[in-house]
Amino acid sequence: MGVRLAVVGATGMVGRKFLDVLKERNFPIDKLYLFASSKSAGKTINFNGKDYVVEELKEDSFDRGIDIALFSAGASTSLKFAPIAASKGCVVVDNSSAWRMDENVPLVVPEVNPEDIKWHKGIIANPNCSTIQAVVALKPLDDKFKIKRIIYSTYQAVSGAGMGGYEDLVNGIKGEAPKKFPHPIAYNLIPHIDVFLENGYTKEEMKMINETKKIMHRPDLKITATTVRVPVFYGHSESINVEFEKSFDINEVKETLKNSKGIVLMDDVNNNVYPMPILAEGKDEVFVGRIRRDESVENGINMWVVADNIRKGAATNAVQIAELLIKNII
Ligand code: A2P
Repeated sequence: MGVRLAVVGATGMVGRKFLDVLKERNFPIDKLYLFASSKSAGKTINFNGKDYVVEELKEDSFDRGIDIALFSAGASTSLKFAPIAASKGCVVVDNSSAWRMDENVPLVVPEVNPEDIKWHKGIIANPNCSTIQAVVALKPLDDKFKIKRIIYSTYQAVSGAGMGGYEDLVNGIKGEAPKKFPHPIAYNLIPHIDVFLENGYTKEEMKMINETKKIMHRPDLKITATTVRVPVFYGHSESINVEFEKSFDINEVKETLKNSKGIVLMDDVNNNVYPMPILAEGKDEVFVGRIRRDESVENGINMWVVADNIRKGAATNAVQIAELLIKNII
């Protein structure tokens, strides 16, 4: 028996990737429903050789016995429709920021905290793309050496801002003015992702800080972040500086990462081998390299972490959550 599955935001950057990943992973689907805004109602999208008609998302859309809904249609759509879906017995895996910090909603990366899925009440949140790849690399190191402090500096692809972000780079290269970003992104970078908050940080930076603590069950962690949009289509890169409580051997750090789930160690500087967005694009793993001791502190390292933001940073992580759901529950 398969699952009655809905994709909300099916016409979007992540929505389309949900469908690719579901197909690749042979997710057992009995019935598939595709939802988007009224603008897209009536369009068809092909899945596994069959055309499906996109429907406008409405309050009664979940009245037909849908088991799981993968949402990626923005925070306001999730705020309104995820509780409606949950009230009809559907489990929502939500890619927006709407529910992530709600204490009644688990925030899950399957390699890090799969056990949190068990206490869901109808909504499970998929973390921010930059946070997902970071915690996959940080969790095994925290288990072994106990992290004290993290400094994130990110280099994030335009696809993280959806179709609009992608088009700003394509059109910007042709000399057109930006529509999605506040400045040109072609031949530039913008140290501003999501809105600015009162403390001078962007919301993206605070998402990384708060979500890391929640996923790793480490509310005491000291974390700071600077997030930057760069003219790359797919693949977020992160410089992560980590300080540990315990002393370590740098080879042990590399071995730990090499043997951890979901990670590919790519660290051979003598042969110019290190992760880059063009290597991570289209892949589901998190790539880690440039691992070296931070010589300015007693127990610190620097590492360079890259992943496909639309795959592991969004669609793949959500589908992995759905896979855990059907293994444990349905
Ligand atoms: P639509 O294409 O009809 O606007 P992206 O992040 O790539 O911009 O995609 C956003 C996704 O969210 C699209 O599929 C978009 O549909 C969908 N969406 C936006 N607003 C709504 C809404 N009010 N109800 C349902 N889907 C929405």
